[in-house]
Amino acid sequence: FDVVDLIRTKRDKGALTTEQIGWMVDAYTRGYVADEQMSAMTMAIFLNGMTREEVRDMTLAMVATGTRLDFSGLSKKTTDKHSTGGVGDKITLPLAPLVASFGVAVPQLSGRGLGHTGGTLDKLESIPGWRANVSVDEMMAQLESAGAVVCAAGSGLAPADGKLYALRDITGTVECIPLIASSIMSKKIAEGTAALVLDVKFGSGAFLKDTEQSRELAKVMVRLGEDAGVATRAVLTNMNVPLGLAIGNANEVRESVEVLAGGGPADVVELTVTLARHMLELAGITDADVEGALTNGQAMDTWRAMITAQGGDPDAALPVASEHHVVTAERDGVLVEQHALPFGIAAWRLGAGRARKEDPVDHAAGIDLHVKPGDAVTAGQPLFTMHTNEPARFERALEALQGGYRIGDAGEAVQTGGPLVA
Ligand code: URA
Repeated sequence: FDVVDLIRTKRDKGALTTEQIGWMVDAYTRGYVADEQMSAMTMAIFLNGMTREEVRDMTLAMVATGTRLDFSGLSKKTTDKHSTGGVGDKITLPLAPLVASFGVAVPQLSGRGLGHTGGTLDKLESIPGWRANVSVDEMMAQLESAGAVVCAAGSGLAPADGKLYALRDITGTVECIPLIASSIMSKKIAEGTAALVLDVKFGSGAFLKDTEQSRELAKVMVRLGEDAGVATRAVLTNMNVPLGLAIGNANEVRESVEVLAGGGPADVVELTVTLARHMLELAGITDADVEGALTNGQAMDTWRAMITAQGGDPDAALPVASEHHVVTAERDGVLVEQHALPFGIAAWRLGAGRARKEDPVDHAAGIDLHVKPGDAVTAGQPLFTMHTNEPARFERALEALQGGYRIGDAGEAVQTGGPLVA
């Protein structure tokens, strides 16, 4: 094939064949198709879309560029969860041990944060000694023993995606349903999970802000999963308001441990329990006392086993920043707005996130919210506290928060983080 012909086809709203897509993805991964050519192709896909068959072919072509894991030798069923990413989204931390505590294997191959959305591995690396790199043999052993493993995906699974995603990131072609769906599902299909629950976000802090677009993304991904033999479900969740009270890394681990101890913010508990029920149902367990497992120590025991197996000390003190800045209410009233995106950007600017893949993160940096939308406040009351090890960062974080929250009067409409839309 000549890649220029394929670009022309897509540019002119034509459809590519299975063979053409397979060839193109493989040739790009090997470096025979240049970044410039693939940029033109991704923009043509962005503008003109893909048919259902093309999205399926694209996904399977990306899977074929790498290795596939096989969990069929395990004595347990596997279920996994994937979130399209949000601000304060630490759900994997309490969820993986919660579900695993019912005898299901939960392999969570996760990523690092880029931009305003955090990464699960960055959060867990706040725990002294914990390591993200686990060999396949270690992963299998840990799934049999602890039941859950959260680790780095490694470059062997769908390597085409890593290259393509980096290209999309710098060419304005991230927010595209066929490309997001094939990117996420290629990794999940390569991972070899038997079942998958997708947490598809909508709202200001999500990749796709529009609910209908998020619903469409969810449908496309569920179809891709089902077609590839993965039992797949999706829930749509609201990402207009940060999830929980902690945004950062170490503070999100602290909040997750609170949930595993039977406490924690109501929205984090609700989403954890909802996703756990779906994951367990897909694994054939319909009568689990999910709430009970959070209050009776069952999920906490699995958390401790999971962290210890990867070298972490679940009892070690988590890093604390040297500098703190408290923002207080300027008047009496009700907090009516608290927008996920500005809070995510502010936490990132405090050092919790990275601008480039190779940047380090400051595990102690972040924001603790003290109030949520709907809470009454009085003048001078703390609204949130910012943490960093570099005080020069406060100013830029505060700039990001201009207009990010608002105190109104009692009776005004309040921005909500829920409810879940199934
Ligand atoms: N997450 C991914 O893994 N890929 C995308 O394209 C978007 C979000």
